[in-house]
Amino acid sequence: MTSLKKLPTLAAIAAIAATAGAQAQSSKADLESVQRAVHVCASCHGENGNSTKPLIPSLAGQMREYTIRQLKDFRSQSRSETDIQAYMWGISALLSDEQIEGFADYYAAQKPAPGKSTNPKLEAIGKVIYEKGLADKGVLPCKQCHGDNAEGASGFPRPAGQKADYVYKQLQAFRTPLRPHGVVMKNEIAAMTPQQLKAVAAYVQSR
Ligand code: HEC
Ligand code: HEC
Repeated sequence: MTSLKKLPTLAAIAAIAATAGAQAQSSKADLESVQRAVHVCASCHGENGNSTKPLIPSLAGQMREYTIRQLKDFRSQSRSETDIQAYMWGISALLSDEQIEGFADYYAAQKPAPGKSTNPKLEAIGKVIYEKGLADKGVLPCKQCHGDNAEGASGFPRPAGQKADYVYKQLQAFRTPLRPHGVVMKNEIAAMTPQQLKAVAAYVQSR
């Protein structure tokens, strides 16, 4: 995958995660290790969690509960797309629950960059699906769970401003066993065409 080429080696990341894990004896040590480690996260997820790479998700402004759930799913190796295995299993393996909560708090408090519109025609199609669903196909309005402005709510992630390529890839991943905790999403996208998935992905990126 070309866009992921210039990234730090997994060994370097694992070393930092290991240091963080070894120091995880008190919650103060946990918080200090989180503060050090966000610099490592930033090398992929961008400054303050605002990603500039199409296949790397932004974490800024993400719902705390959702981030906690994902990091625990990486640590238990239950969320297992190829890139998650390559980039997130190593780094999450030694994290304590307190460190995971520390990352989630940090990113929930970061200001998300504004959405980016690239294809207004496609976004307009996506907006209709996002707001109304596709009644004849059993697709619920996305806003019912992800919020009127795609801002997210608790365990429902914030898709606003998320990279369209990443979103599209995740919507496809819900068709596979690789994201076992997305049961509602599995039902949601079951009857959607790739073009419809691309349209909602473009729409949420523009929010
Ligand atoms: C070497 C690059 C790299 C580093 C460093 C990295 N990540 Fe990731 N991360 C990724 C990629 C790539 C994905 C998405 C893979 C996919 O699902 O296609 C991801 C996904 C995630 C997700 C899921 C986001 C979502 O919307 O579901 C979270 C949460 C996350 N990373 C947190 C972190 C934290 C916290 C750190 C630092 C401790 C970190 N990452 C360091 C590459 C990285
Ligand atoms: C009934 C509630 C519900 C509805 C309706 C719903 N979602 Fe979700 N969505 C969720 C939940 C819960 C998750 C988290 C799944 C997980 O933990 O893996 C999720 C995850 C996602 C993700 C992954 C985010 C990430 O950062 O990796 C995307 C993208 C997404 N939804 C887009 C949509 C779109 C687009 C629609 C409308 C077509 C939609 N959702 C409708 C509940 C819903």
